[in-house]
Amino acid sequence: MVLHRPRIYVTRRLQDVVMDELMQQADITFHPEADRPVPREDLLRGVQGVDGILSMLTERIDREVFDAAGPQLKVVANMAVGYDNIDVEEARRRGVKVTNTPDVLTETTADLTFALLMAAARRLTEAERFLREGRWQTWSPTLLAGQDVYGATLGIVGMGRIGQAVARRAQGFAMRVLYHNRSRSVQTEQALGCEYKPLDELLREADFVVVLTPLTPETRGLIGRRELSLMKPSAVLVNAARGPVVDEAALVEALQNRTIWSAGLDVYEREPIAPDHPLLALDNVVLLPHIGSASIRTRLEMARMAARSAVAGALGEEPPNRVV
Ligand code: GLV
Ligand code: GLV
Repeated sequence: MVLHRPRIYVTRRLQDVVMDELMQQADITFHPEADRPVPREDLLRGVQGVDGILSMLTERIDREVFDAAGPQLKVVANMAVGYDNIDVEEARRRGVKVTNTPDVLTETTADLTFALLMAAARRLTEAERFLREGRWQTWSPTLLAGQDVYGATLGIVGMGRIGQAVARRAQGFAMRVLYHNRSRSVQTEQALGCEYKPLDELLREADFVVVLTPLTPETRGLIGRRELSLMKPSAVLVNAARGPVVDEAALVEALQNRTIWSAGLDVYEREPIAPDHPLLALDNVVLLPHIGSASIRTRLEMARMAARSAVAGALGEEPPNRVV
């Protein structure tokens, strides 16, 4: 019996070991660069006639891509936990399965989120710039003084897997943990010793507001001008979810006017941010280039997970980690 070898388009060259594993199981076409996204026209050409697409969060997988691929397309396996880059309604309508990479990145992303919180609280990147620029003259009683993390109140907006992992870290810092979520979970409250709050109350009370919701029509612009105005002048905002959950122009204004104290960002409305982005002119914000899940081990796990889903889905089997 001749087994059908599925055809899969991979939108970015993955780790060699994963590319090798993929090539043993499927006919693979891929964008050869690891550090640059596939140009749109190459993507549209590359997907023609494939059974599966293994995509990154940098690719918009929409009607145009589904049309370019053709009706034999069975699966889009996204190498990310978030999948707002995929038009899931269109996928559903066409019977194309969509998968993501949950769980494997939870702790890694929570580590980064907490690092961002601490960096923004204690001005780490600003302090390092200060030293590297040769401006360090002496120890001083007030030099680069920041906000305490230990014993502070943390407000988590979006208490999913990553939110809960951040709450567990906060226990080690004796933080009071508030959370806001679409649905309330008494079980989570008991397990993590956290309190549910309506969003406005959380914003008023928290010293640190950490955004960890998926991007959906309901969460787009969730933290806008009004919400930022409710935060304490000493408060720190951390966004490790998706840029558009926070109104970036309103955030820039709040940081410029110091109506909040600082921010730590791993995500932006548009990625990468422009070289003249107003955030770059501010000292009271820590800016990272969307590296939440970027540990060597986790990125390998994510690539393998997406590869398994792409192969299974392309073969017409039920793929692991299906979301649509
Ligand atoms: C990264 O942002 C992801 O969604 O995995
Ligand atoms: C600071 O280095 C201190 O010893 O207080």
